[in-house]
Amino acid sequence: MTVQELLKKCQAEKTAVLATNFYNFETLTAVMKAASKVQAPVMLQLTRSSIDYMGLKVAVRMARQAIEDYGVQGCIHLDHGPSVELVQRCLDEGFESVMIDASEKPFEENVETTCKVVEMAKPYKASVEAELGYVAKLGQEQGGGFTTPEDAARFVQATGVDALAVAIGSAHGFYKLPPHLDIPRLAAIHAATPVCLVLHGSSGIPHDQVREAIANGIVKVNLATEIKDTFMRALKTVLTETNEIDLRKVFPKAVDPVVDLLCEKYRMVGTAAI
Ligand code: 13P
Ligand code: ZN
Repeated sequence: MTVQELLKKCQAEKTAVLATNFYNFETLTAVMKAASKVQAPVMLQLTRSSIDYMGLKVAVRMARQAIEDYGVQGCIHLDHGPSVELVQRCLDEGFESVMIDASEKPFEENVETTCKVVEMAKPYKASVEAELGYVAKLGQEQGGGFTTPEDAARFVQATGVDALAVAIGSAHGFYKLPPHLDIPRLAAIHAATPVCLVLHGSSGIPHDQVREAIANGIVKVNLATEIKDTFMRALKTVLTETNEIDLRKVFPKAVDPVVDLLCEKYRMVGTAAI
């Protein structure tokens, strides 16, 4: 099943793919263990900084092999692609899905850059995600710049993009103010365009709000911060309790709580088969 077919299936069933960022072998393992436990499809996301950290080929080969070994339905996605150059490298490495994020550029420039990526992705049959509106990135202030239904419809029409990340009240990282998703706005965007809608910044959003968003058109839910946070918290605790230097005995104790977290998240988005 292609990414586009998977997202469309979710759209029809009012479920969502959980798109999880991974940073190293341990966080990848947590995602795969959870997905195989609940039999959910995985979308493994790499940002530029994770690619810089692990190296593109190492990250992709590790992810590809993990998908095969765990026997789950899976794909690799570029998250917040900052340039057409990185998109091209990822397409060449076989990513099934790429995001070009020109959301901080003016509308017309965002359209232009996204169109370029849509054309680039065609020969690879890869899915393309873009972002419209202001979803605060790490360190940026929350609020403002919500996506309008009119702009969303115009953007999708002009670019032919497969998936669109929308600004409806979510933000990346920990929330300083309690998150409140603008569900009526999301419903209006969903009514205005058939494109697959993406929720970024799902860490810290109460599960009932995420479920409501899925009921109103979200088909891909991005999760990153809670994965890092759960892993690092658990690791710190383990390290205070042991002098063990065999990291192969230490790291699994920090992986387990991430597996539990992710099983809950797969259930939240409705793609857990068991
Ligand atoms: P969080 O880090 O807030 O979960 O956001 C994840 C995300 O949107 C990745 O693109
Ligand atoms: Zn994001």
